[in-house]
Amino acid sequence: MTIDAGSRHLLGLADLDDASFYHLLDRADAFVDTPPPPSLTGHTIANLFFESSTRTHASFELAAARLGAYALTLDIARSSTHKGESLVDTVRSLQAMGVDTFVIRHHGDGILRTALAELGDRAPSLVNAGEGRSEHPTQGLIDALTLRRRFGACEGLRVAIVGDIAHSRVARSAAIALSRLGADVSVAGPASLLPDAPLKGARMATTFDDALAGAQVVMMLRVQRERMAAGGAPDDAAYHAEWGLTRERLAHADKDAVVMHPGPFNRGVEIASEVADGPNSLILEQVALGVPVRMAVLEWVAGR
Ligand code: CP
Repeated sequence: MTIDAGSRHLLGLADLDDASFYHLLDRADAFVDTPPPPSLTGHTIANLFFESSTRTHASFELAAARLGAYALTLDIARSSTHKGESLVDTVRSLQAMGVDTFVIRHHGDGILRTALAELGDRAPSLVNAGEGRSEHPTQGLIDALTLRRRFGACEGLRVAIVGDIAHSRVARSAAIALSRLGADVSVAGPASLLPDAPLKGARMATTFDDALAGAQVVMMLRVQRERMAAGGAPDDAAYHAEWGLTRERLAHADKDAVVMHPGPFNRGVEIASEVADGPNSLILEQVALGVPVRMAVLEWVAGR
């Protein structure tokens, strides 16, 4: 988080101070049961999604609507990006039309920080809606809120994050958020899908079963084929056999272990349908909490 000349931004959880982190969780939690105030009436939000999205995009739109803001979604495929316009020039143009806050999903690692530096003192608020492999801060907040609502205090909670860790911005933000709540976070995945450097807030497990042993939370991640060279992704059936979460494999975790996934998930690849749809799954609860979390973030960056 940074505040420059009056604008507040959410670029990642790594640099979000504790007070703001807990404020966002508490405010989102309050929104779950309380009708939202029209605190952003007259405010305009632009959704710029340079990568595909269902949950994040839809929940930012709903969050804006519930707070009384106007949300504009730029159709990137038909935008002047394809005539060579830079992200910064797109932001400046929409800011000139009165947009206050930009919600941006982009494949470029570090592009929001670069854009912010270029935009300078008159930068509008920028919110990272998933950037390359670096961070997905609102998803990290969702994951933290989901577990805090489920378990209360998360101190010592054993969380295993399993799958394509190397390409996962979700794993990075979740490890930061959950370790900040005091959870004991481990990550595991095939050697080819592990990061070069350890994730902040997590330790590396050696095998799937090592990560599952005693885990009270199992968070599965999708294999991000779109970030791999052609032919570089593992075969689905082989992956499922070795790294897929089935009911049998879940039995290696704590007997009451809950299952999470940020979505979208691939049934029969990283997770079996019987687990995704099973009684221990929190997946749709994560999705539902996306709206209050993004309401809290939109209100906070607007300084309300
Ligand atoms: N979890 C998540 O970011 O989902 P979407 O890609 O559908 O937004």
